[in-house]
Amino acid sequence: MDTAKIMELDAKYLASVMKVRFFPLVIASADGCRITDARGVTRLDFSAGWAVANLGYGNPRVREAVASQFVRTSFGTLTSMLNEPSVQLGERLAALIPGDYDHKVWYGLHGSDANDCLAKLVPLATGRRRMISFIGGYHGQTAGSAGLSGHTAQAKAGGGANVIKIPYPDPYRPVFGAGRDPGDAVLDYLENYILRTICPPEDTAGVIVEPVQSDGGDIVPPPRFLQGLERVCRQHGIMLLIDEVKTGFGRSGRMFAFEHFGVVPDAVSLGKSMGAGMPISAVVGRRELLDVAPAINMFTMAGNPVACAAALAHLDEVDRLGLVAQAARTGDYLLARLRELQHRHSLIGDVRGLGLMLGLETVRDRTTRQPADREMAKIVYRAFELGLIVFYGGIYSNVMEITPPLVMTEAEVDEGVAILDQAIGEVEAGDVSDEVLGDYAGW
Ligand SMILES: Cc1ncc(COP(=O)(O)O)c(C=O)c1O
Repeated sequence: MDTAKIMELDAKYLASVMKVRFFPLVIASADGCRITDARGVTRLDFSAGWAVANLGYGNPRVREAVASQFVRTSFGTLTSMLNEPSVQLGERLAALIPGDYDHKVWYGLHGSDANDCLAKLVPLATGRRRMISFIGGYHGQTAGSAGLSGHTAQAKAGGGANVIKIPYPDPYRPVFGAGRDPGDAVLDYLENYILRTICPPEDTAGVIVEPVQSDGGDIVPPPRFLQGLERVCRQHGIMLLIDEVKTGFGRSGRMFAFEHFGVVPDAVSLGKSMGAGMPISAVVGRRELLDVAPAINMFTMAGNPVACAAALAHLDEVDRLGLVAQAARTGDYLLARLRELQHRHSLIGDVRGLGLMLGLETVRDRTTRQPADREMAKIVYRAFELGLIVFYGGIYSNVMEITPPLVMTEAEVDEGVAILDQAIGEVEAGDVSDEVLGDYAGW
């Protein structure tokens, strides 16, 4: 099938509710940090497909693990049969998460169902009804996970009864003003207003938080914030739930991003890169949460041996290739290169990140910080034309999310940054017309 035919059938048959497209890319094959389209054009990937391809594409050890497990058995339902890869993986995951408690592991198929698991089980296990989450948070698209989310994408659908949403501490756009630490301001609002009014702590089951708020705008919270949040949780017996679906497994330059902040979660949700492209997710957390009752949160396909074998191979590769340290090093390098761009281009208001979880925010005016959303859509489109794949998000649709495969080299980083430099320069100069966007205005 040629590219035009694939695009025609995609538009005709595949539901729009599962798409956020930034440019017309038909993926035909991929290798390392590069994707080749159906016309034979190869581009560098600064997205890792929304932070899934941390190992890059076509990792031979993952391929071998999947193939040999598939030959032994292509499937087996963990609901009613045991399998060896699922218990090996459970033991490894439990050992990775800190906490002076008995750890249990639950499996799903994607990040949304992992957070849905928390939405369902945390109130059940605690006997408390309310949950707290953050405006801008993206926890998924199933009913429970969308209800926990505070992103514009889920706001369109409504939902989230009994979920109280509070501002995320954004150092670049502090909701409570610039005069004080944005983390302290949010904690003050939570403790002295929310918990004293509409969200009584004795009826609050859990707080769910992203350690770097990714789809909300790749926001790194102030250093003390998560510890402050943990203190409030401990004081009131509220569970601290950390969404590591995007940040987990080395992306932030630590195995898990919460490690940067020195907190101990009661449960962690995992997904995306976990299966190196195979659909698998997990919640790792307290026994009393995940053993609350038998058979009330099970999926027929979850924990299947092929996906678990991929996840085990992924963990092995993260260790063997030293990807946690590499993400920290390459991330520092990439952030420094983005800061150079910021000096040259007034359209860039802020660059930030942890490891290889980076954001570049565009503004029309550095003083008013008016979001430059249309400009961001054009930069991303133009970068695609020039040979770079990168996406954007943010609650104002003006933050480029830069999440390359963790295996990316500095030479590849330089190549991508040169393309961004050119694309941003052309958009700034007014050389990229609005018409190029057509159907590709993203979120
Ligand atoms: C932090 C976070 N949690 C959960 C999800 C949902 O994951 P999935 O799309 O695999 O269901 C995402 C997806 O972007 C995410 O970024």
